[in-house]
Amino acid sequence: MSRLVYILNGPNLNLLGKRQPHIYGHETLADVERDCRALAKELKLDIAFHQSNREYELIDWIHAARESAGGIVINPAAFTHTSIALLDALNTFEPPVIEVHISQVHKREAFRHHSYVSNRADAVMAGFGTQGYQLALRRIARLMEEAAAKRA
Ligand code: DQA
Repeated sequence: MSRLVYILNGPNLNLLGKRQPHIYGHETLADVERDCRALAKELKLDIAFHQSNREYELIDWIHAARESAGGIVINPAAFTHTSIALLDALNTFEPPVIEVHISQVHKREAFRHHSYVSNRADAVMAGFGTQGYQLALRRIARLMEEAAAKRA
């Protein structure tokens, strides 16, 4: 079974740490990647960590994940609230998907309360700060183990 997890990040997350730090905190995306890689080692997972401001690139990575990955952790950022195309792509991917939001989107503007991606996600993390990525990674490791046990 694949131990590869794709961790995908949508638009503006390249500015993490500089962008509205009162909402998203001071950690950069490079910090998040470093912490995910350290945890992945512990969990014996391989990770492919990507960020793009372009919807089609996220879709292409989801298609690539179909060929090789056992799970996806995705922070679709603003595409969460707009992209049926991302939802359609995730619907072609069978293994576990966890949606992550650094901020507590339900406490924010009404337009952030709806997520197309939640229609597919097996779990949603919101408001855990950047720690949400690590919690999602731990959970996805568990879901992947459960799926493997079922297949055995
Ligand atoms: C976000 C929340 C989204 O509403 C927003 O557009 C983002 C980041 C978060 O991580 O809290 O860009 O996904």
